[in-house]
Amino acid sequence: MSLQTAAASTSSAADTTNLFLLPPHVQQRLEADGPLPVLPWLAVRAVKISEDPDCSINEFVALIGRDVSLLSGILSFANSVFYSGGKPISNVRQAVIRLGMRTCRNLILTSCISSLMGRMSMKQEWIRESLARHGYVTAAVCHALNQRLLLGYDGEEFTAGLVHDIGRTLLASCFSDEFQEFDGLTFEESSAIVDHEFSIIGTSHTEAGACFAAKSGLPPVLIEVIRHHHNPDHATGDRRLVALVAAADDIANHLQRFDTPENYDTSTNKGLILLERLGVTNAVTLISADATEILKDADAVAGNMAKL
Ligand SMILES: [Fe+2]
Ligand SMILES: [Fe+2]
Repeated sequence: MSLQTAAASTSSAADTTNLFLLPPHVQQRLEADGPLPVLPWLAVRAVKISEDPDCSINEFVALIGRDVSLLSGILSFANSVFYSGGKPISNVRQAVIRLGMRTCRNLILTSCISSLMGRMSMKQEWIRESLARHGYVTAAVCHALNQRLLLGYDGEEFTAGLVHDIGRTLLASCFSDEFQEFDGLTFEESSAIVDHEFSIIGTSHTEAGACFAAKSGLPPVLIEVIRHHHNPDHATGDRRLVALVAAADDIANHLQRFDTPENYDTSTNKGLILLERLGVTNAVTLISADATEILKDADAVAGNMAKL
């Protein structure tokens, strides 16, 4: 699935952009091949529609119908073994009903992030694949933690996991020569990674990502996740969601670092510890018992999403 890029130009996006000014040399670099990209209008609209409690399925179906490749991607996902139950469908309304609007929104976002990754050169193929897999695994782990810890999110946790490292994709495409100097994709991460990036290129994937998200018009709650997922203590809005993504990020990193879902140690997971401080009782112990299963499932979900 690929999408055409269209400029997002809502007034709220423009207002927020000013809060995330990047150093001029970074801005220049990001815009070397044209203005800083934004997520396609379609993706931002899909997020907004699905957040509206009164959203209508008609509006969503009409939105998907605007892009033929997106429409066929969603139809084929709805007809995949995972969702179809052996009953094929052929129209987009049935597909949205079968998948649910939140899943469709996440598929649209996935597709749009993939189109952003298209800016990377062919020699960066493995970086593209590695970052895409990381987004899918983190999203699926967010979903699993939300269910097991009864946090009450309804799909927004998956979206937050999906986009949390969007700044890495952006930096990989704009700083292709230096990228591996500041991000070796070892998935051995701590809050020090942000300082390390600053020391080399004068910004970080969290700041650049937040700037990109604000410019694209993504909701403030997602901007905060992107900005603070390595320092969840700094979040001031929905701190539980930022802590949840930080927790999932650490668990997902284990899978990509050691290439196994086994032997994850929850006792040092900063996100889970913060969730406990925010009132989620026994988060560390509860997840410790299920970590291997969570990672196995997340890896399977990531495999399905990579086929989109
Ligand atoms: Fe990150
Ligand atoms: Fe991450």
